[in-house]
Amino acid sequence: MAVLVGSKGRGSNLGALLEATQPADFPAEVSVVVSPVPESQATERAKLAGVRVETVSPKDADYTRRLREVLDSARVEWVCLAGLMTKLPADIVDEYSGRILNVHPSLLPKHGGQGMYGLRVHEAVLAGGEARSGCTVHLVTHQYDEGPIVLQLDCPVEPDDTPERLAARVLELEHRAFPLALRQVIEAHARTA
Ligand code: GRF
Repeated sequence: MAVLVGSKGRGSNLGALLEATQPADFPAEVSVVVSPVPESQATERAKLAGVRVETVSPKDADYTRRLREVLDSARVEWVCLAGLMTKLPADIVDEYSGRILNVHPSLLPKHGGQGMYGLRVHEAVLAGGEARSGCTVHLVTHQYDEGPIVLQLDCPVEPDDTPERLAARVLELEHRAFPLALRQVIEAHARTA
């Protein structure tokens, strides 16, 4: 599979995926990490793990072609979006339909959509007075955060939470949810193939 990280590139979900896919019984391995920038914490993690890193940016004029080339050359079957803030090219979404997963730091359909990322999501959860929050792993479609939900894990929102504290609690859930959801969709796919 390919993991596409964002330009901020903290890469903690990438780290969770790299770790979860180590055991031989995990049904996928990370064959390439695609980053919009050449150097970030995420690319550093990938290099330390000995995984191929490619720089492909949505700002590239030939973004779709470059991305397709990288995915093809790494024989990618599954794509995980781990921090990518921009929409994938429509052609890539179609070509990998049902095989692209994204993790979002709220209980979708609440607090998703364009512009809802990072601390903004947790600020909205607190402003909405939600009792619980969590994360969602979903399949990627042409609309931001709207694809079928694969898995959600939830946690309480504490009365004295700040967006940062809530973000940290939800991030731990993301690290558990992403590999679980990935395994789930791959195994479901294998059963119907
Ligand atoms: C996570 O909060 C994820 O939900 C969102 O982007 C962030 C990426 O964090 N899609 P990291 O780079 O994996 O640490």
